[in-house]
Amino acid sequence: MILARVTVVANRKGGTAKTTTVVNLAHEIARCNKRVLVIDCDNQGQVEEGFKAMCKDAELTSPGWLQNQSFFKGLAKVSEYLHICQPNQEKFIAPDDLTWLGALVNHASVQQDYDYVVIDTPPTLGTVLLGAMSVADTIVVPAEPTPLASSGVIKLVNTCMQAVRKRQLKAQQILLLPVMVDKQLKLHRQILQHWEARFGQRRILPFIRRNITLAEAFASQQPVQLYAPDSNGARDYQQLCSDFMQYV
Ligand SMILES: Nc1ncnc2c1ncn2[C@@H]1O[C@H](COP(=O)(O)OP(=O)(O)OP(=O)(O)O)[C@@H](O)[C@H]1O
Ligand SMILES: [Mg+2]
Repeated sequence: MILARVTVVANRKGGTAKTTTVVNLAHEIARCNKRVLVIDCDNQGQVEEGFKAMCKDAELTSPGWLQNQSFFKGLAKVSEYLHICQPNQEKFIAPDDLTWLGALVNHASVQQDYDYVVIDTPPTLGTVLLGAMSVADTIVVPAEPTPLASSGVIKLVNTCMQAVRKRQLKAQQILLLPVMVDKQLKLHRQILQHWEARFGQRRILPFIRRNITLAEAFASQQPVQLYAPDSNGARDYQQLCSDFMQYV
């Protein structure tokens, strides 16, 4: 039996396209007729906003595996292949240990009902982010190739790799995703080369170009593929998904 592969999108820095990546990657995976569960572990609840135009009247359900999980308010079925676990924004209850998310993703129904689980995380290294990283088979770190962002990313990737060696994390893959890339900028090209030299090409996913259409799509509450299928943003996330599904 093939079990659900769990991918956590994480970066300790805010505004690095984590949610944009979760929304558009999950939508692309679902377009390949693979069943995706998106778990929004950031109680800003922005994943829901990114899909709102697709699931306006969707009622929240509460399957057995979501009951007793006070972090989440319910499950929204965006389409046959794409479901979202939405966080409880109003009544946020801080999880006091790291096991609650493990119980959810390892639940037999989740493992059987989905091919992929994709988790969005908050930009702070608290229990929620640590808990999410601890259940990951794959950790994807989206980051803009700028010097300031780069030092944080190198530290985060190194810390994760050390934690894997010490068996504190079970992730088999830690992958860097360059985002908001402008290849015209020498600085971006230099940092990308630096990442390749440091981590090797196989740890670096195909980059996402800077493309304002991604922000516009989010503002119109839908994945970029529906909002502007001919945009660079749509093409880049499609390419990312095709590579991602070979790796993961
Ligand atoms: N490739 C891109 N080109 C241009 N703008 C982008 C790109 N990717 C994301 N953005 C925009 O950058 C901003 C931050 O993106 P996003 O909300 O996905 O980041 P985040 O890491 O989830 O932020 P937070 O840490 O607050 O959760 C948003 O306005 C988004 O529309
Ligand atoms: Mg976010």
